[in-house]
Amino acid sequence: MTAIQKAAKYLLEASQITVLTGAGVSKESGIPTFRDALDGLWSQFDPTQLATRQAFKADPKLVWDFYEYRRELMRPAEPNAGHYALAELQERFPTLRIITQNVDDLHERAGSTNVIRLHGNIAKNKCFANCQGNPTPVDVSQLAWDKSSGPPRCPYCGQPVRPDVVWFGETLPLDQLEQAKELLEISDVMLVVGTSGLVSPSAEMPEIVRSRGGVVIEVNPDSSMITRIAELKLDGASGVILPQVVTALANKN
Ligand code: APR
Repeated sequence: MTAIQKAAKYLLEASQITVLTGAGVSKESGIPTFRDALDGLWSQFDPTQLATRQAFKADPKLVWDFYEYRRELMRPAEPNAGHYALAELQERFPTLRIITQNVDDLHERAGSTNVIRLHGNIAKNKCFANCQGNPTPVDVSQLAWDKSSGPPRCPYCGQPVRPDVVWFGETLPLDQLEQAKELLEISDVMLVVGTSGLVSPSAEMPEIVRSRGGVVIEVNPDSSMITRIAELKLDGASGVILPQVVTALANKN
């Protein structure tokens, strides 16, 4: 039996499949990772100068401009074969859920539903003070402001508007984290796709599933912090490997 066939077998035998994704799944869509985006003009900065509350407070225009630049880089991106394969898996296994660390919306655009977003959504914005509750979404397309002067102001309280992403040192969105934790309790297969396993608490999630007797399957062209606990490692790009898993499942019918 090939590794792909083994993966298909594990999926078929599972009662709850959870998928954890990271930057690797969007790589073939041309989305630069946070660190990849720190090039050109931005290479002189450290992540803590661009992605913390303190940085935004000190220089809202600098941080806003960096996120506008990243949004511009992401705009042409389309879901790739890996995103579509995960959406197909969810059609086949309707209880399958995706937990993503990515701030793009490519899973949803490929057709996945109920995606748990641990790090927010770069396409959205909120009030820096979350003045109407956490979060206080602000639709900037409804606002008129001088775009060369940095972020617009919150229409409720006048504080600056910020991207709806999780910055270094911030807590993850509680409702998303709670949903993820509940899933980990009942998952018997966790498919880990394109994450280095370096950032907590996502990094610990596969271990939680494994410690309960679940199976961890990793899809990654390289080794990661997850590799040593994976029951099965599928070496390769997710845009190549995941469609092969879908085909193997179809052949088992
Ligand atoms: N398919 C699958 N995996 C891939 C591919 C691919 N085509 N290309 C690269 N990878 C793997 C890399 O080998 C690496 O293990 O994807 C992983 C990407 O790792 P990171 O860049 O560290 O991304 P991620 O794990 O999502 O980082 C977590 O850290 O930068 C912060 O907040 C940011 O959400 C991000 C978090």
